[in-house]
This record gives sequence, structure tokens and C-alpha cells, in this order.
Amino acid sequence: MPSLLEENDTITRHRESAGRCHSLTPDAEFTNSNRIGLDITHILNPADSDPFISSDELDRFAPKIVEQHRRLKEGEGDCRDGDTPMLGWQSLPDEITAEHLDEIMAVTGQLSEQIDAFVSLGIGGSYLGIEATFKALTHTYFNQLPRKARNGAPEVYFLGQNTDPDFFRDTLDMLQGKRIGLNVISKSGTTTETAIAFRVLRRMLEDQYGKKAPELIIATTDPAKGALRSLTKRNGYQSFVVPGNVGGRFSVLTDVGLVGLAMAGIDIHEFTAGFRHMKERTDGDDFWSNLAMVHAAVRHLAHEKGKKVEVVATNSSAIYQLTRWMEQIFPESEGHRGFGMWVSPSMYSEKLHANGQMVQDGERNIMETFLRLVQSDNDLDIPIDSENEDGLNYLPENDRTLSFVNQLVVDGPAFAHFEGGVPNMTINIPRRNAFNIGQFYFMMERSVALSGYLAGHNPFIQPGVEAYKRAMFSLAGKPGWESDGVAIRDAIGKMKPKVI
Ligand code: PA5
Repeated sequence: MPSLLEENDTITRHRESAGRCHSLTPDAEFTNSNRIGLDITHILNPADSDPFISSDELDRFAPKIVEQHRRLKEGEGDCRDGDTPMLGWQSLPDEITAEHLDEIMAVTGQLSEQIDAFVSLGIGGSYLGIEATFKALTHTYFNQLPRKARNGAPEVYFLGQNTDPDFFRDTLDMLQGKRIGLNVISKSGTTTETAIAFRVLRRMLEDQYGKKAPELIIATTDPAKGALRSLTKRNGYQSFVVPGNVGGRFSVLTDVGLVGLAMAGIDIHEFTAGFRHMKERTDGDDFWSNLAMVHAAVRHLAHEKGKKVEVVATNSSAIYQLTRWMEQIFPESEGHRGFGMWVSPSMYSEKLHANGQMVQDGERNIMETFLRLVQSDNDLDIPIDSENEDGLNYLPENDRTLSFVNQLVVDGPAFAHFEGGVPNMTINIPRRNAFNIGQFYFMMERSVALSGYLAGHNPFIQPGVEAYKRAMFSLAGKPGWESDGVAIRDAIGKMKPKVI
């Protein structure tokens, strides 16, 4: 039984990883022991009767997806936002240079020395990937650890992802009396939630540091246009760029994600190497060796066969954050023109004791994807108890630790749900490191892009999100939007109110 005073392996890993890889091409041993795998056993079975999807069906479908893959790689198809083809994410892993990553680390290293707490401001694609990666790779109670155990990183907070005044206020309480640094991230530079958060935090910094405040602010935005770019120029903030040809939800490998991750002491070289590795693995046109194509094909055929909800479940609370990232990139890219699968993030066992009943036995419109963390950072022995009233001694007596039980949290439901009519696949993530998280992101980016192409719509725009942003501007009375505001209020005024 490890003493509670022994160092947590998440802390050790964080310390050892920062500064360890620093190579965009890790050696073969590292790469081979960190290969993400896709298990579709519970899709292709049962072998002796009709499987949910057969290998033959996938073989027949393969040419269609190979063709969409070719079109994506060659920049064909419905991929533009305005005039810009939004395919920059495809070549990013190869384009990012070690020098650029070093430059980010130099800036964040310098800022880190001057602050106690770092606040990342942003929403949607300007937030989710950063928080997901941060939580996937660091200690659950990161901010409560002594700075040394955080590998020297400042505390890390996120704001601008909602407008809840209580959440906002509670976060400000945590920042009281601390030296703060900011990264405000908005590609458009006009998103209301981020802009409000920035205004509040900027004022705090100005009150604290006066003319020195701009030195503690980083802005990450469009290279040329938008309100945030103008503010940056005027105030001389240190600035980074969201490339014009990369959409928010595909931007975690741009400066949008990299700056915050470097600030938290995460190895951004290794992270990039993970993207590169998965790009290489999924660039080819052989269907069965391309896990992004197989993943996309299974989801597409499942949707055609009536599966409208995808429960994305995991056995790791760190990896759970990746399911939240999936909850954005899939619905925002797939949910167009009446099409799409609802993504429902789930942490198991917790949810097995909640909506697990529905998954097992409710309407059969559900498929399931497990993100299995194969090896946790830590393990715990289960003590032998001389009374054994709970009957658990069989576990420690057979050398079964908590990690063993935590794998069953995938194996058990995968089998039971499959038997109950929920076909499922499992993405095996070997362990928590930046390389694996990078691989995972690129696989999903490619899969969702293929999904949009297969469905026949542009997966790189989000007119639905823009619609709510416009309605918010109008209802708030933003100058230039007043007449739309009047129209919306009129429409609301014509509705028959009913409040019970
Ligand atoms: O994926 C997207 O494009 C969106 O989720 C955006 O990232 C989100 O709306 C934030 O936009 P912006 O960075 O312009 O503030």
C-alpha cells in the first residue's frame, strides 16, 4: 500500500515530461509503446448471426470514404468559410517548427516568473481544447498543490466560457491578492463572453499594475482583423495568432492551445509530435490501416442504421475532459441541415449508476464509444480485511488492484451494452502523456471532417453558433444590431406566454 506521503505519479510524470521530449520526432520505442488503438470488436460481432455492421459492409463502404479523404487532402469540396478553405489543420502538424514552440516557451516562461495565477479567457474552440488537455495531463487539484509540485507553473484558471456571475465571482475570489497574467483568445475578437471577461480582468490588472498591466497580457487572435487585434496593437500586448484557415474547434494545435499548455508546464513539443504521428498514420488511403477512416465509417453507418446518440464514456476523470472536447467538435461540425449524432460525455462508473440504465435498456438509438485509459499514472492496493464482511478479499488475494477494477469499468459495460443492443467501439489510450493526447485530437479532427464530407455538408463552419451570437448582440442592444433586437423582441412579444 503506497503511503499517502509518497509522490503522486501524475506529479512525477508532469515534472519529468516537461523538458524531456523536446523533440518533434520521438524514438521508435516511445512511439511504439504509445500507439492509440481502435477496437471495433463490439461493432463487427456477433460472428454467428447478423452483426451490427459487418466487415463486408465496411469493405463496400470503404471506396466512398477513401474518396472523401482524397478530396479533403486535395482541398476539394465544401470546406470554405467565406473565401478561405478551412483545411489548415491538416498540414499544421508538419508545419509547426521547433523554433516556434521554443518561442512560445520563452514567452510563457518569462510571464510565468512574474505571476502566481494564469487566466485563459475564451469560449468554444478558444477554450475547450486547452482545458481538456490541461486536465488530461495534470493533477486533479493542480491549483491547490504547492508551486513546486506544479512543476513551477502558476495556478491555471479559465474564464469567458460562460457568463454566470457566481462562477465569475468565485474565480475572482481565487485570484485575489495574486499576481495575474492573462491570455485572451478570440479568433473573431468579438465574442461577447470572452470580451466581457477580458474587460473585467484587464481592469483588475490595470488597478494592480497601472501602466505595466499590458506586459502581463497575451492576446491570441486573428493576425490582421477584429477588435482584439486593434486593442493589441494599441496597447502593445504580446500577441499570438489564430491562423485564418483553421477554425476554432480545430485550433488546439495552434497558438490557441499551445500558449496555455506551455504555461501549465505541458510538453508542447511532445504534444505536436503526437499530432504528427497520427497524421502519418492516417494519411494513407488503405481503409483498414487508417483508424480515422474506420472510425468515421462506423459512425456514419451507425447513424444510417438509426443511432442518433453517441455516449462517449471513459474510465478516467482526466480523460473525461476529452469527451467534453468531443462534445464540441462533433456536434458543431456534424449538426448541420438536420443531420448529426448527439454526443453525450460520460464518466464511468459514475454514470453507470445514472443514465447507464437508459444505455442498457432504453430506446435503441444509442451507440457508444469508450475512451479507455489503459494505464493510469497511479495504482492503489485494496486492503485485505480480516472480517471480509464486504466480501472483497478475493480482489487483493488475487493481486487485483484498483487499476484492475477500473479496466472492468470499460470491459463490463462494453459487453453488457453490446448484448443490450448498443454497438460500441473503444479507443485505447495507452497512458496520460502529451503525445497520446495529440494523437487522439488529430484522429478525431480527421474523422469529423470525413463525417461532414460523407454527410454532404461543410463541417468547418458553424452557422448555428453564429445565429445565437447574433441574437445575443441584438438582444443586448449592441450598436449596429438594434433593429434586429427590435425584431426579436417583437417576435417574442407575439408568442403566447405560458408560465406555470
Ligand atoms: O469552433 C468554433 O469556431 C467556435 O466554437 C469558436 O471557437 C467559438 O465560438 C469562439 O469564437 P472566437 O474565438 O471567435 O471568440
